[in-house]
Amino acid sequence: MPTTCVIGLLWGDEGKGKIIDLLAENADYVVRYGGGHNAGHTLVHEGRKLVLHLVPSAALRPGVINVIGNGVVVDPFHLRSELEGLARRGCSVPLGERLLVSESAHVILPMHRALDELAERLRGSERIGTTGRGIGPAYADRAARTGLRVGDLVRPARLRAGVARIAAEKNALLRAFDEPEVDVRRLGDDLLALGAELRPAIADTGHVLREAQRAGRRILAEGAQGVLLDVDHGTYPYVTSSSASTGGVAPGTGLPPQAVQRVVGVVKAYATRVGSGPFPSELDGELAHRIREAGHEYGSTTGRPRRVGWFDAVAVRYSVQVSGTTEVVLTMLDVLRGIDPLHLVTGYQLADGRRVERFAPFDIDGARPLTESLPGFDVDLSDVRRYEDLPAAARAYVERVEHLIGAPIGTVSVGPGREQVIRR
Ligand code: IMP
Repeated sequence: MPTTCVIGLLWGDEGKGKIIDLLAENADYVVRYGGGHNAGHTLVHEGRKLVLHLVPSAALRPGVINVIGNGVVVDPFHLRSELEGLARRGCSVPLGERLLVSESAHVILPMHRALDELAERLRGSERIGTTGRGIGPAYADRAARTGLRVGDLVRPARLRAGVARIAAEKNALLRAFDEPEVDVRRLGDDLLALGAELRPAIADTGHVLREAQRAGRRILAEGAQGVLLDVDHGTYPYVTSSSASTGGVAPGTGLPPQAVQRVVGVVKAYATRVGSGPFPSELDGELAHRIREAGHEYGSTTGRPRRVGWFDAVAVRYSVQVSGTTEVVLTMLDVLRGIDPLHLVTGYQLADGRRVERFAPFDIDGARPLTESLPGFDVDLSDVRRYEDLPAAARAYVERVEHLIGAPIGTVSVGPGREQVIRR
């Protein structure tokens, strides 16, 4: 398996966790390159359901090393509780053996969370609908060069000085808004205790991955969120603060840009979005409710009901092109059972009245969808394993989607289990 990247082609929640878990069967390393515990990757195996937020999705694959790359923002308090939760469920991921954390990854501190919530409050009706996990403020500190990094957690003098420096700045802000201030000593103590616990996992993961690649090891780069939440190529400002598309792999792992030869884009057979921002194919009313319930479309990080819409072929074609997707996995086809007709978005009428067939993130606000309709199917697909056993209408839907997005659909997923896939 060449070095492969798995990404979401819309706004996250495409079902990447399951696909990464599947591909990890043939991988030696799975590396997260961006985002933080805003992500929620759900795995179902032998009736067991696990939701991972920060630990890469090969947690259930004993032979695979999970790497949290330098492009990830790490809340060490959350990491500890996620690992404890996994261990309680019989899935321990031993530090240093099956989990490595980049020493250069930036740390999310409690005040980043407080500032995330404060910023959302101040935005009022223009709030982004963030996950409230401190992601944006932590990336902002990275860019401002004031952040703490995971390697600092095991360097007491640097850590204490860093906490004092950051607290001086943040406390002034928190004070101005009557928010509780940071207790510098206590936070320093807590972070050093966490550093001591995490020490076996803390490593120069860029070096580890480059050596692994030189030795011919198989590496899977695990995207979080989706291309349309990418800070540069998504629906800014309603995006996350990292490079969620494939462009984030090199800076977020330390591998060279040409390392990734295969890009697996994952997308649902319909569209969803959590948080605010443009969503041209959005549905409301009974149909949205029906898809939301059938697809269990509630955020795995925040529990928020997801917004639901028709498959947007224009947006996905854009994401395929931006990310260099070489093959597509179409997930949740089973959820569309019983909806007739099905609609696909093939263009937009923009706010200024122009009709276009191209997704331009700058123009998308207020765009109305132009759709075409296809016959639906009313068959339970969850046990189908061969493409030719799908009903003709389901195959026609898959093939029309494939034509419109301009990338081959290699796999169709028809349920949450590892085995519920159809390879074409
Ligand atoms: P943040 O990443 O918490 O700052 O949130 C920014 C936007 O990205 C919000 O609309 C979130 O709902 C969305 N978001 C962040 N992570 C995920 C994810 O894993 N799945 C879906 N949406 C996400």
